[in-house]
Amino acid sequence: MAILPILHFPDPRLRNQAQPVAKVDDETRALLDDMLETMYAAPGIGLAAPQVNVAKRVIVIDISEERNDPHYFVNPEILTQRGNEVFEEGCLSVPNIYENVERAAWVRVQALGRDGQPYELEADGLLAVCIQHEIDHLEGKLFVDYLSELKRGRIRKKMEKWRRHTL
Ligand code: NI
Repeated sequence: MAILPILHFPDPRLRNQAQPVAKVDDETRALLDDMLETMYAAPGIGLAAPQVNVAKRVIVIDISEERNDPHYFVNPEILTQRGNEVFEEGCLSVPNIYENVERAAWVRVQALGRDGQPYELEADGLLAVCIQHEIDHLEGKLFVDYLSELKRGRIRKKMEKWRRHTL
């Protein structure tokens, strides 16, 4: 396993459209394992492949306190969604920024697991938010896109300043 570098907003590579995975093979499993290790190390509760510069429809999530309940999503698709809820979100690609975003309160998602088998999952609360946030990454969309142009511009400036100081 390996810890992969995470891209930061406004890196244009975060805007790439991720492609479906043809087959869950050893290479896909290695990517899932590296992404999980990267997410735990960050630390974060979700990570999508485009954030580590891999344009594939692959996501890992673990919202457990104990960090021992990983969810693997390959080619995820939201089948049904219901309701609305506002949550304060953050993102490993937009460090130290937390803003309210409105999303569906409940989702049913279909995906392939680490074993390549299809499964369905129903989620609400934080897990539902996280699934929608990570699927957005596969479309090149970030949570800051839900904010006003003014707010997003301020965050971009903050990120660029932060980057200058950490290089
Ligand atoms: Ni994110």
